[in-house]
Amino acid sequence: MTRERLVTGKSATGEEEDFTWSLRPKTIQEYIGQKNIIEKLSISIEASRIREEPHEHLILYGPPGLGKTTLAHIIARELDSRLVTTTGPALSRIADLMGILTNLDRKDILFIDEIHRLPKAVEEFIYPAMEDFRVDFVVDKGPFSKVINVPLKRFSLVGATTRIGLLSAPLRDRFGMSYHLDFYPPEEICKIILRSAGLLDVGIDKEAADIIAKRSRGTPRIANRLLRRVRDYATVKADGVITVELAEKSLKMEGIDSRGLDDLDRSLLKIIIDYYDGGPVGIDAVAATLSEETDTLEELVEPYLLKIGFLMRTKRGRTAGQEAYRHLGIPFKGSVQGSLFE
Ligand code: ADE
Repeated sequence: MTRERLVTGKSATGEEEDFTWSLRPKTIQEYIGQKNIIEKLSISIEASRIREEPHEHLILYGPPGLGKTTLAHIIARELDSRLVTTTGPALSRIADLMGILTNLDRKDILFIDEIHRLPKAVEEFIYPAMEDFRVDFVVDKGPFSKVINVPLKRFSLVGATTRIGLLSAPLRDRFGMSYHLDFYPPEEICKIILRSAGLLDVGIDKEAADIIAKRSRGTPRIANRLLRRVRDYATVKADGVITVELAEKSLKMEGIDSRGLDDLDRSLLKIIIDYYDGGPVGIDAVAATLSEETDTLEELVEPYLLKIGFLMRTKRGRTAGQEAYRHLGIPFKGSVQGSLFE
């Protein structure tokens, strides 16, 4: 089943992309959060600038919507480098990658999003490109086959993936730097919302920004999407200034509760609790009951529920956490009833 979800980190339409694009930080100074990564990147960027060398190959991984693509753009801008972007699935043939690699100049940055989806043959073709800046091209077949080495300019590869576990060890090992982007705490999301509201020239109370932040699942892309919805609501129902009341009303109307859960999240938890006695239950059984793809649940629904302790992953399957019972108002060893929208 494909559902329209407001609270998914996955990017939506091209039009929404344009909107979020305008709100993205363009420099390292503008970037809010991920302090650890930003500190280390500032050093490596500065070092390659001083030495006038290409940046080390870098892999960024973590749930969608946390800023992997944004960081790739920032690195390129800080290094005054050209950024060439593509995706794993778009590189279905070796010839596609060959074309891109041979056109790269020294210090160019090649960004491959969803790098875990590179076909195996293409992936192997990339190894010598990363290691020795050459590609080995086989021409002819059988006894007349020859390997031609094509030298490349010294580029840097930035890979991004939501599924680091699916990356083969040889590919992973070829990245000199590997950084994990984690969900942002609500305080940082709140700052991002206030910054975005400033760029959009929309008035917002700090408390209202907090309300939106708590429902954004630690994900800037969701925060900006919710801000957009609330801004529309405030324009139609009031004078355009976002207050606590307007933020609460508009997000409640969208079916997003106080922790940023939507129908799909709540259904998943309820299935585990009601059908499977709280678990453990295999994710495939949950997916079948929900008529959803297992991949969708694993990539887009579970990460945040795991993060906030509503869901646990065990060897025998998924179990619902005590916090999930409390949130849904289902008794769990004497837990309290509560409203989802409080
Ligand atoms: N907009 C989206 N992500 C952001 C971030 N990390 N910092 C500032 N603005 C953002």
